[in-house]
Amino acid sequence: MGAYFIGLMAGTSLDGVDAVLAEISAQAFAVRAHRYTPFPPELRQTLRRYCFADQIALSVLGQLDAELGEWFGRCALALLESAGVPPQQVRAIGSHGQTLHHAPHASHPYTIQIGDPSRIAEMTGITVVADFRRRDVAAGGQGAPLVPAFHRALFASPQENRAVLNLGGIANLTLLPKDPTQPIIGFDVGPANTLLDYWIDRHLNLPWDGEGRWARQGELVPELLKALLADPYFARPAPKSTGPEYFSPAWLDGYLKRFDEIRPEDVQATLAHLTAASVALSLKQAKPDRLLVCGGGAHNLYLLELLAEHCSCPVETSAVYGIAPTQVEAAAFAWLAWRTLAGLSGNLPSVTGARREVILGGIYPAC
Ligand SMILES: Nc1ncnc2c1ncn2[C@@H]1O[C@H](COP(=O)(O)OP(=O)(O)O)[C@@H](O)[C@H]1O
Ligand SMILES: [Mg+2]
Repeated sequence: MGAYFIGLMAGTSLDGVDAVLAEISAQAFAVRAHRYTPFPPELRQTLRRYCFADQIALSVLGQLDAELGEWFGRCALALLESAGVPPQQVRAIGSHGQTLHHAPHASHPYTIQIGDPSRIAEMTGITVVADFRRRDVAAGGQGAPLVPAFHRALFASPQENRAVLNLGGIANLTLLPKDPTQPIIGFDVGPANTLLDYWIDRHLNLPWDGEGRWARQGELVPELLKALLADPYFARPAPKSTGPEYFSPAWLDGYLKRFDEIRPEDVQATLAHLTAASVALSLKQAKPDRLLVCGGGAHNLYLLELLAEHCSCPVETSAVYGIAPTQVEAAAFAWLAWRTLAGLSGNLPSVTGARREVILGGIYPAC
């Protein structure tokens, strides 16, 4: 059928790397294998310290870039080994990299993803496409989100208006109108796992709230939810993108200071409500017929229930449409690498605000 491509995705949750082996052609897309590798605790600590922070020493940056490049290379090789596919059969790897900083509103807008692609190419002997976001920023866009074009290719339907919600560290939405002449809209909604993970790590020393069980034990604090939702980001119109540098622990702690002691599980429940309520707010105008959820947050059953409560449409995970929630983002970067090598654009100007469609990424040849 098609050619093999690998997608490597390390998102803002700083949880690990999703690696997907996909078979792609102009007519078809299928995931053939998936491997998730959590970051070792030390590397995760380092990433938590420096990603989205304002400062990093150049020597630390250089080493982290190299270490992550090696790590991504190893993840790609492990994926191929478990799938029984030799590297020579893979056309290219699309590596998103780890976002270190994202500032589309700076006086000279920029976005920085690290994880040395040269190293991945050297280790695997496979061509690497990386640095997808910078070209969109150079064309006047936000550099994010980039997955909506892939969402369109996979999930758009002529029968109904659909919305795709990715619950990563940040929640982002893609609105897919059934009328193909209407523009696709996509934007970052606000915080999802980034704050849920921070809060449970701080109180229970756990990396995440498995299935949302801890949040379920808590109770919504309506005044806190109202205060958090009053942040101007939520009401700002698209295109817009954000990250954990904005919806940071300091952001949450700033609001919590205004309240008397709230039980930690109540804060967790309120954070889950914040994600669901901000998604519902973002869907108010579009009124999709269906909401498809992907990303690691799709495992948070409590959050899924809240989404169904807050949004007035059926809520399903992407699994119902043939692709597991945790595979979607990595699959998107395999697909974007395919687009780049085919000389096709990868961004949607209606989503990112870029002046035009551009071919994304830099190509690091196999040899
Ligand atoms: N079983 C689970 N229950 C609840 N949340 C989960 C579960 N598994 C993963 N997650 C959440 O998903 C996150 C990872 O999602 P992911 O889509 O990889 O986000 P990102 O793209 O930001 O890295 C974890 O940090 C965690 O918050
Ligand atoms: Mg992740």
